[in-house]
Amino acid sequence: MNKIDICLSPDLIHQYDLASTVVVVIDILRASSSITTAIAHGVKAIRPVKSLGECRELQLLDHVGAAERGGKRVGGFDMGNSPFSFMNPDLEDKKIAMTTTNGTVTLHKSRGALQVLIGSFLNYTALLSYIKRLPCDILLHCAGWKGKVNLEDTLFAGAIVHGLKQQFEFDSDVPQMAAILYAQAKNDLKSAIQSSSHVTRLINFGQEKDIDFCLEMDRYKVIPVLKGNYITKLKLSDMLF
Ligand code: MLT
Repeated sequence: MNKIDICLSPDLIHQYDLASTVVVVIDILRASSSITTAIAHGVKAIRPVKSLGECRELQLLDHVGAAERGGKRVGGFDMGNSPFSFMNPDLEDKKIAMTTTNGTVTLHKSRGALQVLIGSFLNYTALLSYIKRLPCDILLHCAGWKGKVNLEDTLFAGAIVHGLKQQFEFDSDVPQMAAILYAQAKNDLKSAIQSSSHVTRLINFGQEKDIDFCLEMDRYKVIPVLKGNYITKLKLSDMLF
């Protein structure tokens, strides 16, 4: 039986062997939700970069620049990290350079895996259906906040474990912990994360509508995948079965 595990923070990724594993990057508020939204709305490709400098260089070239730090849009860039800004029809077939506090770091720390997918509540069932058919181990890689574990990413990882219904063997106690957490919260996710650190931060910045949006289940059927330097839509030819 294939194994599943959860890495609760990018600072713990050294504990995991990625070579024969498919990794799902999770940053519910908001990077993985924004990436899923962008790909669903026809953005051609997203280049996740770690530094503001790299993002600025690409913006000066031929990319749309999206930069967020500490939950806020960074001045001098075309956009921040609100999923609503990625719905703009002007972005269709465009390339976006994206840098965020945690999500793009987590993407970079997932390199070396068999395949790197992006997961959010927005594409939950599409992602789950694909994972269920994979002939290999799975690692759910949570972005957290500046190296610390966060609630919303852990809950989504628990939702995936819950949906897999013991089809995978747990490779540590973390999947069970996250599944128990999700079972308690699943009927009212918003209340469950109401006092979480990043929810508080985003509400203070007037971004409450982003939170409601990022908790929506199955709005989209796309699965974003990191191929080389770019995130694009997972195509049939990319599927590992
Ligand atoms: C992150 O990468 O930390 C988040 O996506 C931050 C945010 O968008 O608020």
